[in-house]
Amino acid sequence: MSDGFRLGVFYTIVRPEEKWILAAAESRGLAVVRIDDGEVTFGLDRPDVTADVVLNRSVSHTRSLYATRCFAHYGIPTVNAPDVVEVAGDKVLASLRLAERGVPTPKTVIALSPEAALKALERVGYPAVLKPAVGSWGRLMAKVRSPEEAEQIIEHKSALGAPIHSVFYVQEFVPKPERDLRVFVVGDRVVAGMVRRSSDWRTNAARGGTTEALPISEELAELSRRAAEAMGGGVLAVDLMESPQGLVVHEVNPTPEFKALTAATGADVAGAIVDYTVGVGRR
Ligand SMILES: Nc1ncnc2c1ncn2[C@@H]1O[C@H](COP(=O)(O)OP(=O)(O)O)[C@@H](O)[C@H]1O
Ligand SMILES: [Mg+2]
Repeated sequence: MSDGFRLGVFYTIVRPEEKWILAAAESRGLAVVRIDDGEVTFGLDRPDVTADVVLNRSVSHTRSLYATRCFAHYGIPTVNAPDVVEVAGDKVLASLRLAERGVPTPKTVIALSPEAALKALERVGYPAVLKPAVGSWGRLMAKVRSPEEAEQIIEHKSALGAPIHSVFYVQEFVPKPERDLRVFVVGDRVVAGMVRRSSDWRTNAARGGTTEALPISEELAELSRRAAEAMGGGVLAVDLMESPQGLVVHEVNPTPEFKALTAATGADVAGAIVDYTVGVGRR
């Protein structure tokens, strides 16, 4: 393919995922423009970046948010699109969207002050889960078993002072089996799925959860597609739990890692991402 098409890759560090993406681009004969999220600057008057499409692989939600808006300003489409990054990357906005679209999701109550957070916990009932609105790898999440524990955790969060800790995202604790499900959606395609198993209630692969391939049932594929569509579509990893009432979606990741998924399933996730991204750039 030597028609001058340029695939931008916006990244923080080159992890195995980015290596596979670059290799997939090379094997397709694509010219790649690497954009380091710690180096790039964006002026208003002329494009500082030229690419036909940019694949966002930044690990920072804030950088992703602003960069995709800057690329859009230059008329460069991104995967994912700015609105998708904004909504899916924020658990508050994502939960609102899932509820609006009728996608089953755990009971969630949002509070904006420490006092209201205690009320939110009462509404949800104990045990409950407190999560930062923005974050990944299960970091800074807490399982709260009683009002006493709640007061201590809320005091700690308030003392941290960062704006993100002044939003309280409170969710019912879902008594799932010792595992959760991850389904990787690219456009309207379900590319692969895996089970993440752990005796820790946070089953993230990044926390050491063990992974294995998940056969995708029609129900699971349908629900995952709906969750991805609810965010606006693109490259999205849908996280689900098996609640006593059935499958619930608790998160849709807009810049997902897929090392564990690739190892567990052998699926060519990087190739699927590159092909989809090129398709967006050629639209
Ligand atoms: N409401 C919940 N009830 C029980 N376990 C949960 C709940 N929410 C999350 N978890 C567990 O914690 C993990 C991380 O939560 P998640 O919302 O996906 O945040 P992160 O963005 O940090 O991955 C999930 O994969 C799941 O195993
Ligand atoms: Mg998750």
